[in-house]
Amino acid sequence: MWSYKLQCFECQRVFPAEEAGFRCKTCSGLLEVKFDLAAKRKPAWNHRQLSVWKYRELLPIEKEESTVSLAEGGTGLHHCKRLGRKLGLKKLYVKNEGENPTGSFKDRGMTVAISKARELGRKKVLCASTGNTAASLAAYSARAGMECIVLVPKGKVAGGKMLQVIMHGAKLIEVKGDFDQALEIAIELADRRREFYLMNSINPFRLEGQKTLAFEILDQLDRRVPEVVILPVGNGGNISAAWKGFSEFQQLKMVKNRPRMIGIQAEKAAPIARAVKKRQNKILPIHNPQTIATAIRIGSPVNWPKVLSAIRESRGTAETVTDRQILEAQRELATLEGMFVEPASAASIAGLKKLSEEGRVGRSETIVCVTTGHGLKDPSVLDRLPKSQTGYNLEITAGSSLEALERIL
Ligand code: F0G
Repeated sequence: MWSYKLQCFECQRVFPAEEAGFRCKTCSGLLEVKFDLAAKRKPAWNHRQLSVWKYRELLPIEKEESTVSLAEGGTGLHHCKRLGRKLGLKKLYVKNEGENPTGSFKDRGMTVAISKARELGRKKVLCASTGNTAASLAAYSARAGMECIVLVPKGKVAGGKMLQVIMHGAKLIEVKGDFDQALEIAIELADRRREFYLMNSINPFRLEGQKTLAFEILDQLDRRVPEVVILPVGNGGNISAAWKGFSEFQQLKMVKNRPRMIGIQAEKAAPIARAVKKRQNKILPIHNPQTIATAIRIGSPVNWPKVLSAIRESRGTAETVTDRQILEAQRELATLEGMFVEPASAASIAGLKKLSEEGRVGRSETIVCVTTGHGLKDPSVLDRLPKSQTGYNLEITAGSSLEALERIL
């Protein structure tokens, strides 16, 4: 591993790597892991298998024996020709993060953060979540033999994710309120009771794992930098982490430039997109955010300073999509490309459709949409599909003749 420090994202104050808190002691800004990459030579990692740990020199874990892994990363980057043709785009790729062990991109961050927790001698971990972070943490803490507490907004988490949390034996606490309130409680609890190690995306070590998404995209495209990368945005950890990854490969001179970063939010849960559209350098939190994409039902994203900076620096943008557009995109990706993703993930495809209709992405540009979680996590979508899309759904009795079946077909 290469040496690193923690640095405040706002005032740039530097803290030693073993700093315990998640906020700057001077200005309360977000912290960031900083590797000194200036004089570094490229690691000889081409022979290593594609995965989060392929890039271990760039991950803040000192001892290899601290590693807690379920084989994360190495997800497919799929050239989507059929969907691309429909949208008039030649080089459309989907990086399908639902292929991770617990079915979402969170595993990239969790393998690193839980390894860090082990390295720091922590025994109890804690998070607030709209579902996927909770499912991932529940699995990785089980693997590490740690106690796990998750806080989720009551009645607002998809069924598959609840099942994962329960199955892995985490202590599940349902908060009467939304995700933003659950996160506030989790942060306060972690402040007050130091034995609980907070695993939300303000934990800078978690974002280090998530930046490998960008490394993998560049490796899978043989270091050709895509012009555009589109991600759904909730708490803003993932788009910031991806941007950090693209930037580090550039600092290492492995690539010359970086993509435009585009964040997509649900129309009624879109504080980032609103700020970007109004060219504001702060967000205005949204109270009582609403969307069927429960994973990104977030009104007050903690990582907003990092997100606005990534979008600005990359000359990217942010856009909103309606629930109907999300469901349409989910269905299109499933029927045209064989990829079943959860609604929040389909927001990136819905956003691309909107941008492409408005001519805001080029027809020949290389575009990567990140789909963040597996479709099986949220079976409630079945109740929202129009009747015309639920197939034949005809019944025959076992004794019917084949002719009767053929007549129906
Ligand atoms: N897509 C999915 C499927 C998610 O679960 C999340 C976040 C996002 C996108 C947004 O990522 O927060 O890094 O901007 N889910 C969190 C959770 C909040 O608790 O599982 P982000």
